Amino acid sequence: MDRIAIVTGSDRGMGKETALALANKHYSVIMACIDIPTANCACDEIKAASGNSNVFVYKLDLSSIASIKQFVQSFLQDFDRVNILINNAGIITMDYEITEDGFERIMAVNTIGPYILTKLLVPYFRLGEDNRIINMSSWIHTFGKFSIAKINKYHYVKAYSVSKYAQLLISLELADELKEKGITVNAVNPGTVRTRIMITNIWLYDFIINILMAPLYIEPKEGAQTGIYVATSDEVKDKTGNFYRKCKPVAVSKRFNNRALRTELLQYYETIEKSLEINRSSSRITAPAFP
Ligand SMILES: NC(=O)c1ccc[n+]([C@@H]2O[C@H](COP(=O)([O-])OP(=O)(O)OC[C@H]3O[C@@H](n4cnc5c(N)ncnc54)[C@H](OP(=O)(O)O)[C@@H]3O)[C@@H](O)[C@H]2O)c1
Repeated sequence: MDRIAIVTGSDRGMGKETALALANKHYSVIMACIDIPTANCACDEIKAASGNSNVFVYKLDLSSIASIKQFVQSFLQDFDRVNILINNAGIITMDYEITEDGFERIMAVNTIGPYILTKLLVPYFRLGEDNRIINMSSWIHTFGKFSIAKINKYHYVKAYSVSKYAQLLISLELADELKEKGITVNAVNPGTVRTRIMITNIWLYDFIINILMAPLYIEPKEGAQTGIYVATSDEVKDKTGNFYRKCKPVAVSKRFNNRALRTELLQYYETIEKSLEINRSSSRITAPAFP
């Protein structure tokens, strides 16, 4: 039976390269995307290039809990299990925005949404199969020191760094929690990659950043390799709670692997999850208030 992989944000950039690599390896690939026309084009390209017709597009907007729930419902109408979840989608925006559920938008898309998606899908990973969750973090987590009380107040680069640090910390927490369910959870730092996320559409900024970053840039195909490796390699099967860079586990420094913050973050996310449980019939939840 085919193995089933969900890749969020797979209509472009590293997500698209990842979806193609998984299609080449004969996985059934679920492209969970916000922009359906672009995703449909990408899906056609992936099917043609891989010869794998089991590539499917589903709508997912990670900034909306209602959309995440709708995605899971639609997915479960067609599939009864999942083997790989790659939480790849991500944004950085200059504006400070609060989502319909009351979260800062970058945090919502990059870490809170992926956490909710993960928790809604956990029951559909089957015990005894090769089950893996991969979370996209970044080297930029080192700028992401944060306090839970202010988690909704950061913006732009700081919010992005916080979201990537939170993705790393929550991966470590979930790795412990999901061990007994036979699911591995690892985080990935793909490097500095030439994708649309690096473009702000403010020409001066883009001009400067592209000059500064040019020597560091790698192309999306190369950037995607570590995530693909962690998702599919036999060498990594059963390895959990690691942070990968260039297809190798790297240590998370003691300064960043902060146990107290990990626990606090998990509690915050569990509070959000609980309000989701209470309102399972409703599509809306509200961001927990902090003093
Ligand atoms: N590029 C880098 O140097 C770098 C470095 C470290 C980590 N990363 C991480 O790598 C991941 C992939 O990014 P990328 O570099 O490949 O950038 P990208 O090409 O811009 O891809 C980001 C993907 O996320 C999707 N997305 C954005 N908002 C979404 C939402 N609300 N719901 C669902 N999907 C949404 C985008 O869809 P649309 O474009 O259709 O809106 C796109 O498919 C991100 O998590 C990013 O933070 C990137």
